[in-house]
Amino acid sequence: MAATLSESELLALVSALSDGAWHSGEALAADAGITRAALAKRIAKLSAWGLDVEARVGLGYRLAQPVDLLDAKRIRRALPELARDRLRRVDVIAITDSTNQRLAEADASADPQALFAEFQSAGRGRHGREWVSPFGANVYLSLAWTFPHWPAQITALPLAIGVACARALRAQGVDGVALKWPNDLLVGGKKLGGILIEQRGEGGGACRAIVGVGINVSMQDARGITQPWTSVASVIGKTPSRNAIAAELLAQLVLALEQFAERGFAAFATEWDRLDLTRDQPVRIEAGKDSYEGVARGLDRNGALKIETSSGVRHALAGDVSLRVKT
Ligand code: BTN
Repeated sequence: MAATLSESELLALVSALSDGAWHSGEALAADAGITRAALAKRIAKLSAWGLDVEARVGLGYRLAQPVDLLDAKRIRRALPELARDRLRRVDVIAITDSTNQRLAEADASADPQALFAEFQSAGRGRHGREWVSPFGANVYLSLAWTFPHWPAQITALPLAIGVACARALRAQGVDGVALKWPNDLLVGGKKLGGILIEQRGEGGGACRAIVGVGINVSMQDARGITQPWTSVASVIGKTPSRNAIAAELLAQLVLALEQFAERGFAAFATEWDRLDLTRDQPVRIEAGKDSYEGVARGLDRNGALKIETSSGVRHALAGDVSLRVKT
């Protein structure tokens, strides 16, 4: 039986190619101590991870775009003291199914803990959709956080996290970020990132939230994505540092979770209103078998979206429903 390729062997190859320059097949194979045929198998595997590897006779191989591999130590060092002290773990994993799934199965006594991945084979989006997660192109982050007591306004947590992500992106020079209720991050009407929060706990007791965030950073290939999307690189017009975005995002999430535990959604409401893309727009709400149309009129104090319908104002809670802006 053919031996399966180990993750570390493949990562060593990504690392050798990460500068985006041409590398001869002969040198790559010699450095790895393998034959040219074995090298070709490893290259094919990198393509399956979503990496665009170019091959040219006489030149060898190169990545169509350089990869800035994530580095847990660099990310930790770039965090402000508050976040660094608060976080028990910050890890980077190369390949996984879903960072949310990994932390859901991790020991909660190590919370708050953060996990980044270079590639997700089963990245999860909202409403059971897949989150397309090619290798080394974006940021995939999960942060597991245990609140000692179930926060009163937990249904508004996704909105607070949306504000935190917008703050992080702004700090990294990404202008024009807006939020489509409850927490899609958009620029110019195209999706830049998304948030999936999965929580467990019992009323009155502790509540554990796995906050998952995916931000498109320098993704170029839209394979599998069915809606209009953009990336930080397209918005700012240059390739940003993924490590810098990762650290900023994590710092803002920690700050937001602290603020949310202390002050609830009140700490975010004004900022959310400023970022609200759906304000005064005709929308359609789908909540299982119940669907209705109306005009979005901003949030109530618990973060529910107020929809003015022909039969009065209805309040839609995040998590239960999906929203479409009618064009
Ligand atoms: C959405 O559908 O808009 C939410 C997407 C959330 C994706 C992130 S990527 C990191 C974390 N791990 C997952 O499997 N999903 C979230």
